[in-house]
Amino acid sequence: MTNRQLNLNAFIYPTGHHEASWRHPDSTPERIYDVRYYQDLARTAEAAKLDAAFFADGPALRTEVEYRPDYGLEPITTLVAMATATTHLGLIATASTTYYEPYNLARLFSSLDHISGGRAAWNIVTTATDAAAANFGLTDHPDVQQRYARAREFVDAAVKLWDSWEDDAVVIDKAAGVYADPSKIHRIDVEGEYLSVRGPFNSARSPQGRPVLVQAGSSNDGRDFAAQYAEAIFTAHQRIEDAQAFYGDIKSRATDFGRNPEHVKILPGLSPFIGATEAQAQDLHREFNELTIVEYGLGQLSKMGRIDVTELDLDAPVPAELFAGSGDITDNNNSRRLVFAKIVEREQPTLRQLLHKLAGARGHNVVAGTAVQIADTIEQWFRGGAADGFNIMPPQYPQGLEAFTSSVVPILQERGLFRTEYTGTTLRDHYGLPRPASQYARALDPAGV
Ligand SMILES: Cc1cc2nc3c(=O)[nH]c(=O)nc-3n(C[C@H](O)[C@H](O)[C@H](O)COP(=O)(O)O)c2cc1C
Repeated sequence: MTNRQLNLNAFIYPTGHHEASWRHPDSTPERIYDVRYYQDLARTAEAAKLDAAFFADGPALRTEVEYRPDYGLEPITTLVAMATATTHLGLIATASTTYYEPYNLARLFSSLDHISGGRAAWNIVTTATDAAAANFGLTDHPDVQQRYARAREFVDAAVKLWDSWEDDAVVIDKAAGVYADPSKIHRIDVEGEYLSVRGPFNSARSPQGRPVLVQAGSSNDGRDFAAQYAEAIFTAHQRIEDAQAFYGDIKSRATDFGRNPEHVKILPGLSPFIGATEAQAQDLHREFNELTIVEYGLGQLSKMGRIDVTELDLDAPVPAELFAGSGDITDNNNSRRLVFAKIVEREQPTLRQLLHKLAGARGHNVVAGTAVQIADTIEQWFRGGAADGFNIMPPQYPQGLEAFTSSVVPILQERGLFRTEYTGTTLRDHYGLPRPASQYARALDPAGV
């Protein structure tokens, strides 16, 4: 593809991605329920011409709230407020196919797309944590096969709902007294093992036709699901080799599903500590690591790594056998465990060093260096077939985002790797994705383009 350019998102996290960012003297944890805080972050991201702001989410309180603030505000609601403070920035919200119903969720994303003039995207998750089940009257969290099977029916139903009004269904013929053409509004009649939805949808087709579909599967099931449905895929890798392998695998799976691999953007996470010198950046990283709370780190490691760390000595090397039988990508929800196992195998860290390594961004790539060094890493992965762009994960908000947009983005623009102006208004324009026609319209017009 000529003049291929990066796609860059700001991955929003209350006070930043470093687990101890809220304790930093310059951080403002008291502001994370103030919508103006997020509107300001959105303006900073848009001023730098970033593609989108992304919110992760889970319908359950994370157990470690004693040691770290959780999200607090619900993503779609917050993104509506960010939409009113911006004109071009994409708005990506996470929502669970396990703990939502298609009709309600389709309405929320369609409305976000209408309200924002075509900037909505949905990060499709099946909810990794089993803590949510009890919040929805379930005794057990469905197993991963069930979750992904329901997710397929869910996305199918949501897409049909967004397509159920053809683009020209709204007529507004005041003289004739016709508001909409009922022949262009369709029932969807989805009858599945987990879901049944009759339709029609109760909202006209949104500016993008459908919100952009995003996913972050890394297991075999997750990768197949992502390759079949997702237009952007988030992922976590420490090393370019692992990212290249993931990139190649997803692009070929998408091709196997008959899709154009250029319409599947792969965005690894990158958490940059930026300094005027490399030493200064490493000092900043150390400063944050010194604020970490061991209990929190141990809790995260045992939960995401699925290992028992209670008996381990903080200053002794982590026994690699702890991750024995880590399995491979066929194992679901194992992706982060595999990332941790590779770090232990490769670097033989002490437990304290491993906790500091993961404190930055939960296994995503953390880089400490000058703006030029960060830009070099980004360019290397982008040109090296490891990424189409990045989910930028500032260790601290807002300072980390301001540092990235004011120092790294201008370098990427100078090198012709990133836009200097938005060339479109929708997230599909920014990602270079086509606007899908309504599948019902196509039925009527065999030549439907
Ligand atoms: C960048 C990124 C963001 C994610 N955001 C969420 C999230 O907000 N909520 C959630 O439940 N899972 C989230 N996940 C987890 C994925 O949805 C998925 O469950 C995980 O990558 C494991 O993949 P698997 O489901 O294929 O095993 C995220 C993963 C990545 C890499």
